[in-house]
Amino acid sequence: QLNTPDLYQVYKNFFTIGAAVNSKTLESEKELLKKHYNSLTAENEMKFELLQPEQGNFNFANADKLVAFANENNMKLRGHTLVWHNQTTEWLFQNPDGTQVNREILLQRMEEHISTVLGRYKGQFYSWDVVNEAISDDDSEYLRKSKWLDIIGEDFIAKAFEFAHQADPNASLFYNDYNESHPNKRERIYRLVKSLLDKDVPIHGVGLQAHWNVHDPSLDDIRAAIERYASLGVQLQITEMDVSMFSWDDRRADLTQPTEEMLHLQAERYDQFFRVFREYKEVISNVTFWGANDSYTWLNDFPVRGRKNWPFVFGENGVPKESFWRIAKF
Ligand code: G3I
Repeated sequence: QLNTPDLYQVYKNFFTIGAAVNSKTLESEKELLKKHYNSLTAENEMKFELLQPEQGNFNFANADKLVAFANENNMKLRGHTLVWHNQTTEWLFQNPDGTQVNREILLQRMEEHISTVLGRYKGQFYSWDVVNEAISDDDSEYLRKSKWLDIIGEDFIAKAFEFAHQADPNASLFYNDYNESHPNKRERIYRLVKSLLDKDVPIHGVGLQAHWNVHDPSLDDIRAAIERYASLGVQLQITEMDVSMFSWDDRRADLTQPTEEMLHLQAERYDQFFRVFREYKEVISNVTFWGANDSYTWLNDFPVRGRKNWPFVFGENGVPKESFWRIAKF
C-alpha cells in the first residue's frame, strides 16, 4: 500500500477527512486512521448516556483516549452529540420519586452536562453537534416528539446552543440531521436553522449526516440541500457518511461478500458525491465517514438484523476499494 495516497492529503485544499471511531476501531484501525484521516468523531462514546450514566457521575475515560490519540497524531475532533432524543438516560428526565422533571430542572441538567463536557475539552473540539435529529421525518409534523421537546418546549434547541457557546465560545456549533436531502425535511431543517439565526442564537453550521445508498438520494436533491443550507451563510459538514450497498426497500440478507456490480455502482456514487463536495468546497469544511473501513459498520444490522454491509471506501482488511480510487484520483 506504499503507493496509496493519503486521503486527507489529497483533500488538503478542500476539506478535512474524518472517521467515526469507537474504542475497538481506534485500536484495530490505528494505522489506517493515521494514514488517511485528519478528523475523528466518537461514534457512541460521547453521547449522553455514556458520558453521564448517573447524575453527576461522568465517565470520560473513552473520550479522553480519543482526544489523546487525536492530539498525538495531529487530528481534529468533532464532538457528537450533546442533545438527542436517543441514547440519553432514564434518570435525566426523572425526579428521584420517578415523576417527570419540570422545565427548570431539565434545563439545569442540560446546562450542567454541556458545561461539564465542553468545559473539560475546551478548545479541543473544533465543532460540536449540539442538537441532533430534532426535526420530524413525518411531513405532518415540524419537530420530532421527544422528552426534551415535551418538557422544555421548542426553545430546548436554542438553549442548548446558548449553553454550548457559553462553555466553549470558539467551537463551531452544528445542528446535525439525516434525510437532510429529502425535499420536505430539508425545508423543515432550513426553517429551524433560519429561525435560530433570526433570533441570534449562536449556531454556525449544519451537519448533513449523509447516510446514503447506491440509489438514493439523487444528486439534484443533494445539491439542492447544500445550496439551501448554504444560503443561510452557515458552514456545512458531511458528518456521518456511508453509502449502503442496498437501497432502502432492498431487504436481502444472504450476501457474505459484495458483488462486483455492487462495488462498481458504489464507486460510481462515491465519485459523484465527492465531485459535488469538491464543487462546494467553499461551504463544506469537513467530510466524515461513519466508520474507518468495512470491518465494522452500524449498518451491519440495520435495517435487517444480521445483514452485512460494505459502505466505506476501504474494505474489511483496510485495502482501498474502487470507491477509494475514484475519490482519491480526479
Ligand atoms: O454497548 C452495548 C453492549 O454492551 C450490548 O451488549 C449491545 C447489545 O445490543 O449493545 C451495545 O450498545 C449498542 C451501541 O450502538 C454500541 O455498539 C446499542 O445497542 C446500539 O443501539 C448502538 O447503536 C448506535 C446508534 O447510533 C444508536 O442510535 C450505533 O452504533 C451508532 O453508529 C449510531 O449512530 C447514529 C448517530 O449517532 C446519529 N445519526 C445516526 C447514526 C446511525 O444510526
